[in-house]
Amino acid sequence: MTEPKKLFIKTYGCQMNVYDSERMAEAMAPEGYSLTESAEDADLVLLNTCHIREKAGEKLYSDLGRLRPLKTAKPDLKIGVAGCVAQAEGDEILRRMPMVDLVVGSQAYHRLPEMVRGPRHAVETDFPVEDKFDLLPARRAKRGPAAFLTVQEGCDKFCAFCVVPYTRGAEVSRPRDRILSEARELVAMGVREISLLGQNVNAWHDDGLGLGHLIEALAQIDGLERLRYTTSHPNDMAEDLIAAHRDQPKLMPYLHLPVQSGSDRILKAMNRKHTAEDYLRLIDRIRAARPDILLTSDFIVGFPGETDEDFRATMRLIETVGYGMAYSFKYSARPGTPAAEKPTLPDEVADARLLELQALITQQQRAAQNAMVGRETTVLYEKAGRLPGQMVGKSEHLMAVHVTDPTGQVGDLVRVKVTAASTNSLAAEPITR
Ligand code: 5AD
Ligand code: SF4
Repeated sequence: MTEPKKLFIKTYGCQMNVYDSERMAEAMAPEGYSLTESAEDADLVLLNTCHIREKAGEKLYSDLGRLRPLKTAKPDLKIGVAGCVAQAEGDEILRRMPMVDLVVGSQAYHRLPEMVRGPRHAVETDFPVEDKFDLLPARRAKRGPAAFLTVQEGCDKFCAFCVVPYTRGAEVSRPRDRILSEARELVAMGVREISLLGQNVNAWHDDGLGLGHLIEALAQIDGLERLRYTTSHPNDMAEDLIAAHRDQPKLMPYLHLPVQSGSDRILKAMNRKHTAEDYLRLIDRIRAARPDILLTSDFIVGFPGETDEDFRATMRLIETVGYGMAYSFKYSARPGTPAAEKPTLPDEVADARLLELQALITQQQRAAQNAMVGRETTVLYEKAGRLPGQMVGKSEHLMAVHVTDPTGQVGDLVRVKVTAASTNSLAAEPITR
């Protein structure tokens, strides 16, 4: 019998880390570990880190500093660093922070149980040849009705600013059959919506077939009602994937398609390998397939060499597309990437551009939310709301919706009419038949 122990996981960064954290928790369950909400009563603390921008990376060291008194008071407590900082910095973490017991890179999670059992100061940052998820236990944890499923990892695009091709490695697609069986496991546990994840999810392929095909195959699973995927690169929006937005009613009308900049000069310097016009034409094709699709993007301001004219081009592109939402970031030089060699812009310039861009995005987001008032949508209830008789879930367009529905249950998929909107959420009433 294994002794019951507690595991606390803190997840930083993207949804792929959220998925990885779930899988790590499942990998530790046979070792007797169950999840706890607080580091104070944990026997093992895992920090699942993000390396995408400097601030994200530095967060690890400040959080480790905060854990130090806990470790001093409780020397048996094990502290592990996982994720992309672990992958990128490896031994360096142990040198800076000897209080850390183990460092496990984002591709080595199947080694986690033996590392926790083993001696202190273990570091594992190899890239295995097998599907790392295949080496982890089957899905079994209790979960909500909307789940993530990683189908692809890594990236071969080498955008000049980005560490992902170095931390997550080359593009690898998980085999179709494994994805389908994991999806069936999830559905058997009550999951009704699956978001397919990948750094470059639309580059997924198996035996010559692309993501459009995978979506079609997943849509055949009874009980699986909704599909989404993220994050996509414009150059990998294949025809069959665009067609899936027209032909697969289970595929939600939502697409995160980062463009980063609207200036051809900057796009070229970023090594994005497409122009602003290419992107706009692509959007036209996607909207022709699915007219009500909601588009979102990522933007970087203050990339080395970005002039005011370049920034205006980005603002024009945003005006032209009309986004439902977007993430925007000030450029952060990442050691080892080509862009990090170039001189950066003054902080004030980048800060001012970021504010201006965010104001435009917020305005567009508000318009998209307001446009829903009076319209019908379908909501998947994920939890009870704060008010009595209220349920909370996501609309088809991934907007948060509060529904007044005293008989509603988590997991219900309910047709509603939107009654009010704010920038970040909608209010709605079920449509009574
Ligand atoms: N600086 C700022 N933002 C970055 N991103 C990736 N690398 C950097 C960087 N060095 C942003 C991109 C990407 C998102 C996940 O993070 O916009 O799409
Ligand atoms: Fe990074 Fe570009 Fe790959 Fe996205 S496509 S993960 S931004 S290198």
